[in-house]
Amino acid sequence: MSGILEDLLEIVGSRASSSIVERRCYAADASQIEGLPDYVVRPKSTNEVSRILRLCSRHQVPVTPRGAGTGLSGGASPVKGGLVLDMSSMNRIIDIDIANLQVIVEPGVVQERLNLALKPYGFFFPPDPGSSAVCTIGGMISNNSSGMRCVKYGTTRSYVLDLEAVLADGRVIHTGSKVLKSAAGYDLTRLFTGSEGTLGVITRAGLKIVPLPRSRRLVLACFEDAVIAGQAVLMVFSSGITPSACEILDKTTCQVLKRCDPKLAIPDDGDLILFEVDGPENSTVKECLHIAEICSPLALDVRVAKSQQEMDAIWAARRLVGAAVAKIDPAKTRIYMGEDVGVPMSQIPALIKRVQHITAKLDIPAMKYGHIGDGNLHIALFIDVMNEDQWEKLRIAADRIHKAALELGGTVSTEHGIGLARAQYMPEQVGQEALQVMRSIKRALDPNGILNPGKLGL
Ligand code: LAC
Ligand code: ZN
Repeated sequence: MSGILEDLLEIVGSRASSSIVERRCYAADASQIEGLPDYVVRPKSTNEVSRILRLCSRHQVPVTPRGAGTGLSGGASPVKGGLVLDMSSMNRIIDIDIANLQVIVEPGVVQERLNLALKPYGFFFPPDPGSSAVCTIGGMISNNSSGMRCVKYGTTRSYVLDLEAVLADGRVIHTGSKVLKSAAGYDLTRLFTGSEGTLGVITRAGLKIVPLPRSRRLVLACFEDAVIAGQAVLMVFSSGITPSACEILDKTTCQVLKRCDPKLAIPDDGDLILFEVDGPENSTVKECLHIAEICSPLALDVRVAKSQQEMDAIWAARRLVGAAVAKIDPAKTRIYMGEDVGVPMSQIPALIKRVQHITAKLDIPAMKYGHIGDGNLHIALFIDVMNEDQWEKLRIAADRIHKAALELGGTVSTEHGIGLARAQYMPEQVGQEALQVMRSIKRALDPNGILNPGKLGL
């Protein structure tokens, strides 16, 4: 591998490095999974990416593409060494094309920056993960990420119209076009979306955008128990209302958030569901009343947020949850394992019950929050990381949570991806035959297996 640095320097100049400091900085994403890369490269153009991949193919060097590194499943951790391709320098918004209801962006554009740029036009890009202030569009596409607003607007997949991708051998393809719909052969755009960098490197994306809603309102419904809260969610959706966000913050989560901001108007002792509705003013007012009516017989308390300011404070707090978790017990650390399960809507109460049972039996403190309107529960488990027994309990709890989701007809990853963290569940998740099909696709596009090797259970 000794000749490669010289070649890389020739392609990207000082944006390639093999210094140990750089290599350590790129050893992991936001998960616990690490691997030391041999090189770090920050390309600035499709042509550079193409030349780098051709070089890596020739020398059989593994390539791990990376955005902002906010992933929680080891997707951007270079577990087989080789080269980390940091795409964050390709961060131009190339075109805001309102007439065609789309934008053309490079993969390193940060979600929030895109939405700030779209705001003056009255448009937005709806997928809204907790990390939207830092995560990149390329990472979002690679993981089909979603977040708060997908319950009404759909996941990233619903917005990708076209991708420019560089294949392992350096060829550059487009997977779609500017048209809003097309029936022209295999849907390569969908194939690449959610492929976690295993099929090609995304260098440009055409994304559909939608008008900003005219108003938003928020209902806060508080319940004695999370299982009852789950039942109320089912009742609201089956009444025909589609909230623009539907989040659960269980008792522990509410308490943690209150410790961060005592003025926050959320309950101290109850499991909270946030139902946001959006649209024309008169319809959001009506839908709030309707949601309150449905929830009242089951709830301890139901109210509508009084002002935009209150809504903003609650959403800002919701975004903090992942980090705020440390407030619960400074001696314990949250470990992201078993944190992203999802089930079909009708199984939401059953999933909550199973998780309560698993964590109580193992005596592991847990906080439950997430996109309950999508059947997606984030379970934050805490342990004293110096205590080996607690690690063991954590692994058992995470495994039981994953298996419970599978038994309920659900998924081990609703939005954070498989990466390496959940690779072992792929045979059961998708079925042996389907996994073989995925392996055949991988071999066809990347015969030497250089692109993000070790991921997705391939
Ligand atoms: C969230 C991340 C963890 O919803 O997906 O906050
Ligand atoms: Zn989430």
